[in-house]
Amino acid sequence: MKFLFPSRACHRVLGALAVLAAIARLAVAAEDSCITCHEHQKQREAFLNSAHAQAGVTCRDCHGGDGKLKDETAHTAAGFQRPDNKKAIAAMCARCHSDVRRMNPYGLPTDQLDRYKTSKHGEQLFGKNDQKVAVCTDCHGVHDILKAKSPQSRVYPTNIPATCGRCHSDAKLMAEYKLPADVVAQYKTSYHAHMVFAKGDLSAPTCVTCHGNHGAVPPGAVQVGQVCGKCHVRQRELFEKSVHAELAKNDLFKECVSCHGNHAIQRATPALFATACSQCHRPGETKPFEVRDRVAGLLRQAGEACAAATERVRLATVLGLATDDEQLVLQQAGTQLKQLDVLQHSLSPETVAPVAKQAGELAAQTLASVAELERRERLKRLALAPVGLFLSGIALLCWLKRRQIEREEKQ
Ligand code: HEC
Ligand code: HEC
Ligand code: HEC
Ligand code: HEC
Ligand code: HEC
Ligand code: HEC
Ligand code: HEC
Ligand code: HEC
Ligand code: HEC
Repeated sequence: MKFLFPSRACHRVLGALAVLAAIARLAVAAEDSCITCHEHQKQREAFLNSAHAQAGVTCRDCHGGDGKLKDETAHTAAGFQRPDNKKAIAAMCARCHSDVRRMNPYGLPTDQLDRYKTSKHGEQLFGKNDQKVAVCTDCHGVHDILKAKSPQSRVYPTNIPATCGRCHSDAKLMAEYKLPADVVAQYKTSYHAHMVFAKGDLSAPTCVTCHGNHGAVPPGAVQVGQVCGKCHVRQRELFEKSVHAELAKNDLFKECVSCHGNHAIQRATPALFATACSQCHRPGETKPFEVRDRVAGLLRQAGEACAAATERVRLATVLGLATDDEQLVLQQAGTQLKQLDVLQHSLSPETVAPVAKQAGELAAQTLASVAELERRERLKRLALAPVGLFLSGIALLCWLKRRQIEREEKQ
């Protein structure tokens, strides 16, 4: 600890210096005719709070012009620009953000424009000069750009659906591209959105986690599993062993999405077995339904056995029996059940059966052990019965004796 203090104090001094430097830079910027003349305009307010102003970027760094000229000739000076189309905006931002030397001090990557060009947005803008797709400023803002990590930033996870939704919920705009306008609404109903918005769990995905931020593309059938598999690693491994894996490689099956959907993914329950498979398999096909019934059956049996054991333990506990050991075994069985939900992605009864068997055995073991507890309890009661009788007998005798004495005293 002792060694940390000097370095911490050092950091404080450095931090204070950085703030002073930023203020000094702003003071210099304030001498710019741009900022004094545009003083009351909304750009200034927004700008002064931005990541750019805080890093000392001035109006002229983006717009050019001459900051010494005090009248509107400032605008006509060499190099002045007000980008009036989205390609020009991308070029303006990239002048710094694709420049390794400029970005190195901030540790920022310089691949945003390159990635953007591979996205559907970028392909449309650079390939077809489509001005309706998103460019840098549509996602980040213009003068009020904040650091991505700032919770107020347009690209902070909790703000992402609204940022994309400005266009992707616009029914008229989306109709022009034959795209659905309900992706944001669908996403908001999902378990993922519930985790992000209701539970504050930022490890669950928003739009850009699945689509990429600068390279926002619709994942193709092959990539879909990789997208989900980034987080759900084990499910993906097991899917790769399933009968559908080969189909997915040939674009005939959309991995996870075929059963779970994409935007409105809900908590998965065994009910999914009843609906998912018959989306594609017709009643005439025997094999798929045979496999489904075996796998789902194994899961159901294990689940029912554990539920029955849990109920039995609960009742025993209510009756005052000490069931700590049994609850421990039940916990193990619960872990096996969770594992079964994952393992069934192999669609292989051989993979599922051993764990289902273990869970069933643990449930049976619990039942047997509760039965033993109850038997011992009964024995205890039986053993106590004669003692009870004996004590009651004594009490009766005492009472009779006392009545006799009382009667004798009265006479
Ligand atoms: C004499 C005051 C004055 C000075 C100095 C000045 N501006 Fe302006 N500027 C204006 C006014 C007025 C407008 C037009 C209203 C508007 O669009 O906000 C304008 C418009 C602009 C526009 C939008 C142009 C367009 O085509 O829509 C930009 C960009 C701009 N100024 C940037 C700058 C920059 C950068 C500087 C410094 C190099 C600067 N201004 C200096 C007053 C000034
Ligand atoms: C990070 C680059 C950047 C900086 C720094 C910047 N601007 Fe801009 N500005 C833009 C872009 C890009 C546009 C075009 C926005 C559009 O058309 O969607 C723009 C547009 C404008 C406009 C046109 C009206 C509007 O709001 O769209 C004015 C006026 C303007 N800027 C003034 C300023 C002033 C004054 C400063 C300094 C206080 C400044 N800008 C700093 C990038 C910048
Ligand atoms: C004159 C060079 C320059 C131009 C032009 C420029 N930027 Fe920046 N940008 C910077 C610097 C420097 C930072 C500050 C980095 C920091 O403080 O971490 C920054 C920060 C950012 C950040 C925050 C990064 C983070 O840490 O999360 C975003 C987003 C951003 N710029 C977007 C844009 C967009 C969009 C445009 C075009 C409208 C643009 N920039 C134009 C230099 C520039
Ligand atoms: C479709 C929306 C979108 C577009 C278009 C977009 N960005 Fe971003 N940008 C994001 C998101 C989302 C993040 C946050 C990344 C994260 O936290 O994972 C980000 C992060 C950044 C950062 C912080 C560093 C980084 O790479 O993570 C910079 C700088 C940046 N963008 C600049 C740009 C520039 C320059 C352009 C235009 C060439 C651009 N962005 C276009 C959504 C977009
Ligand atoms: C300024 C409006 C706008 C914003 C903001 C915007 N987009 Fe888009 N996006 C479009 C348009 C328009 C298209 C249609 C392009 C096409 O298909 O030719 C599109 C296409 C897409 C596609 C490809 C769809 C397909 O199947 O062709 C994806 C994926 C996408 N956007 C994701 C996002 C994400 C994620 C965000 C937010 C981070 C976002 N977009 C923000 C306008 C926008
Ligand atoms: C859990 C991952 C995931 C999340 C989160 C997600 N998407 Fe998607 N999205 C997908 C997949 C996978 C597809 C491709 C579906 C397919 O091929 O059937 C897709 C397709 C799309 C398409 C093309 C639609 C079509 O029918 O062609 C758009 C546009 C889109 N998403 C936008 C968004 C937006 C905006 C958000 C945020 C509100 C979002 N996505 C959130 C996984 C996701
Ligand atoms: C053939 C249909 C099908 C496919 C393909 C599929 N799943 Fe599932 N998934 C299910 C069913 C059915 C359940 C419910 C099991 C239960 O609750 O008994 C489930 C449960 C889940 C669960 C919750 C239980 C657990 O495993 O923790 C997650 C997460 C999940 N799936 C993710 C994925 C991912 C990721 C993929 C792609 C790699 C995928 N699934 C592919 C049918 C499928
Ligand atoms: C950025 C990481 C991430 C990505 C990408 C992702 N998920 Fe999730 N997912 C989560 C988290 C976190 C949860 C909530 C915690 C949990 O139950 O595992 C979750 C929950 C789920 C559930 C519900 C699990 C349950 O307990 O019932 C399913 C089903 C699911 N995801 C499927 C998918 C599918 C399909 C995709 C791809 C289209 C996908 N996920 C992409 C992180 C992710
Ligand atoms: C998106 C469509 C789709 C969904 C959903 C789907 N399957 Fe399939 N499945 C296929 C296709 C296509 C084949 C290959 C058909 C063939 O070979 O005749 C296949 C093959 C199979 C096979 C191998 C059949 C054989 O004859 O060897 C089994 C087993 C199977 N699926 C089980 C299931 C189960 C169980 C579910 C639900 C949990 C399910 N499938 C959901 C499309 C799907």
